[in-house]
Amino acid sequence: MSVTVRVPAKVNVQLAVGAARPDGFHDLANVFLAVGLYDEVTATPAEELRITCAGPDAGQVPLDRTNLAARAALALAERYGREPAVHLHIAKDIPVAGGMAGGSADGAAALVACDALWGTHASRAELLDICAELGSDVPFSLVGGAALGTGRGEKLTPLEVGGTFHWVFAMAERGLSTPAVFREFDRLAEGRDIPEPVASDDVLDALAKGDADALAAAVTNDLQPAALSLYPELSATLAAGEAAGALTSLVSGSGPTTAFLVRDSASADAVAEALRASGTCRSVRVAAGAVAGATVV
Ligand code: C5P
Repeated sequence: MSVTVRVPAKVNVQLAVGAARPDGFHDLANVFLAVGLYDEVTATPAEELRITCAGPDAGQVPLDRTNLAARAALALAERYGREPAVHLHIAKDIPVAGGMAGGSADGAAALVACDALWGTHASRAELLDICAELGSDVPFSLVGGAALGTGRGEKLTPLEVGGTFHWVFAMAERGLSTPAVFREFDRLAEGRDIPEPVASDDVLDALAKGDADALAAAVTNDLQPAALSLYPELSATLAAGEAAGALTSLVSGSGPTTAFLVRDSASADAVAEALRASGTCRSVRVAAGAVAGATVV
């Protein structure tokens, strides 16, 4: 017997970042949108905890207990006083170290898969608790759809989405480490007054109306200057997507994946083709959202 859970990637349509807190994290106003690029995690009974991974980026995925899928299984097993005797296989399609919550997605998916496999029947609140311990973006991978994340991003308020948003994503040649991007944010912010992060009414209205033009005018990412500072070549990718007709372009989360909001699926295909031809990125994917969070298939 085995259980497979499908889990989406995310893009941040607003990422407002506050000053560094004493614990090193940053308070955020983080508007997440789940998009239809998926990993699948399959949990199968085994002698002991084991992780395997397949997919184009599989070579970059750690297979030890630092993997968020492994940490999720360990956390659930510990809570319920059982052995984490499970093989977790990750079929990876979300870019690794890309700012699309690929690692977080695997943590949420593994948690849901182990809960079903072991029949632990943890409540939604318990699962969300464990997710928040695993990482700031993990709770959103569980719930999907669209949500405002506050605190370090883990406290979620679900948001209404009034239509489908079409996106193109350009994967960069190399990854960026999230802590390094936050450190660069702190360095660039030195000596400046950093306001409290607050959700933008324009972003929330545009999401609720399903209005791509309004969303394009409203998206912001406070981590973008830091990501571009560490990875200046991303500017060329952003420019190539805009020149091809994207409504707007931005760095996804801490990057280096770049995201292009487009009007419809035909426009997505055209922008994707132009980005592929531009030679400014490693690969290009098209995806729409909002989509559901971690789901047993
Ligand atoms: O929570 P998570 O493990 O995903 O965070 C990875 C790193 O990103 C943290 O160690 C921290 O350096 C940075 N981070 C932050 N503020 C947040 C979320 C993450 O500084 N709200």
